[in-house]
Amino acid sequence: MPHLHVKQCKVPLLPHKADRFTFTFAAQNISNTNEKLIAVRTNTENFFLLCYNKDEKHLLKSDKLTRPTSTYALHLAMIKYADIAGLEVTASNIPQKEENEHLKDSSVLKNISFFTTPFTTEKKIVIEIGFGSGRHLLYRAKQYPNKLFIGIEIHKASIQQVIKAINIEHLTNIYLLDYDARLFLELLPSNSIEKIYIHFPVPWDKKPQRRVISPSFIDEAYRVLEKNAALELRTDSQNYYEYSYQCFINRHKVLLNIKKNQHIDITSKYEARWQKMQKDIYDIVMTKDDTSRDREIDGTFDFKISPIHKTDLSSFLNKQTVKFDEGFVHIERVYRVIDTNSYMLRISMGSFNRPEHLYVIIHSNAIEYFPKPPIKSAINLKAHKILNGLIYE
Ligand SMILES: C[S@@+](CC[C@H](N)C(=O)[O-])C[C@H]1O[C@@H](n2cnc3c(N)ncnc32)[C@H](O)[C@@H]1O
Repeated sequence: MPHLHVKQCKVPLLPHKADRFTFTFAAQNISNTNEKLIAVRTNTENFFLLCYNKDEKHLLKSDKLTRPTSTYALHLAMIKYADIAGLEVTASNIPQKEENEHLKDSSVLKNISFFTTPFTTEKKIVIEIGFGSGRHLLYRAKQYPNKLFIGIEIHKASIQQVIKAINIEHLTNIYLLDYDARLFLELLPSNSIEKIYIHFPVPWDKKPQRRVISPSFIDEAYRVLEKNAALELRTDSQNYYEYSYQCFINRHKVLLNIKKNQHIDITSKYEARWQKMQKDIYDIVMTKDDTSRDREIDGTFDFKISPIHKTDLSSFLNKQTVKFDEGFVHIERVYRVIDTNSYMLRISMGSFNRPEHLYVIIHSNAIEYFPKPPIKSAINLKAHKILNGLIYE
């Protein structure tokens, strides 16, 4: 992980603008005053830098929850912050490199807000979840130039690699998204997607709650697929295949096609690895033979703004957990926003197998999610209501 070793984590007067970055505010963990988060705004993203004390050393690095997709922007932000805060840097592992030519234009990478307001396209839409090196995604996008491909991935280095390839090949029918695919499907209108590919997902045998496939994910995938459209799962893991098969077959009204060791016209990076090891490859293709109802979810992520009655809100909220039937709200940490009367919470909320991890900033006259509100799902709205209650009741 790129980081700077610094003598002390100092915070200058904020906000402070330096080049493409505005350092807007800083917050300090109430239980560990050595941990500070520094908010950074660019024209495309909001994220935090993290400064903390480890083994007698002060480290400046990225905050995992909000890490920006562009590694170059992250490195530059750390160097700029060290500069404006007058930090004494004792060691650094940040590479001294110019921004890659083919990453300067990252317009193929869309922000989640691009998808929260319904976008229009004449093209049929195909989704690939966890595209990795992008071999399969790029191949299919070239094969079907009249379709729009949405590639979803959470691994930043893979996203950057695929942005480069798209720019080098001048492909215009791909959007990329740096987001958890399990949450993304909830945003899409019913009956709108022509195909969903999930090739060689991580099996997560020891942490099954992190798997992409789950009963509720399959329900969402089914809902967003057009009638007669299909989800294609390809895996080398017999265990994941068996688990997924159970999830699919438990669904009401489902058409499944199972294949073993079937050749397809493009070999992804992972498939090539498994082929070399002569592993069996399993496909499950779920075809939808129905039309789903439109999704109707009412509610907003606004907070009720009224006087806060709790005398010591920050310690009241710290480590609070509320569970309800389908989900939960957990306040992991509480921060004080430096030089203000505001607080910030680091929370996880929503459904047990697809939780959101984000921050909430509590000002005296407003409350906001950072870097952006959760996905509008029934469970997230319920969790939001509970969080609102914890703050005000
Ligand atoms: C084993 S790799 C397979 C990559 C590629 N499909 C291939 O066949 O070479 C699985 C990929 O899924 C991505 N991934 C895991 N969980 C994800 C999630 N919830 N949303 C989006 N991508 C995810 C990982 O970052 C990783 O790149």
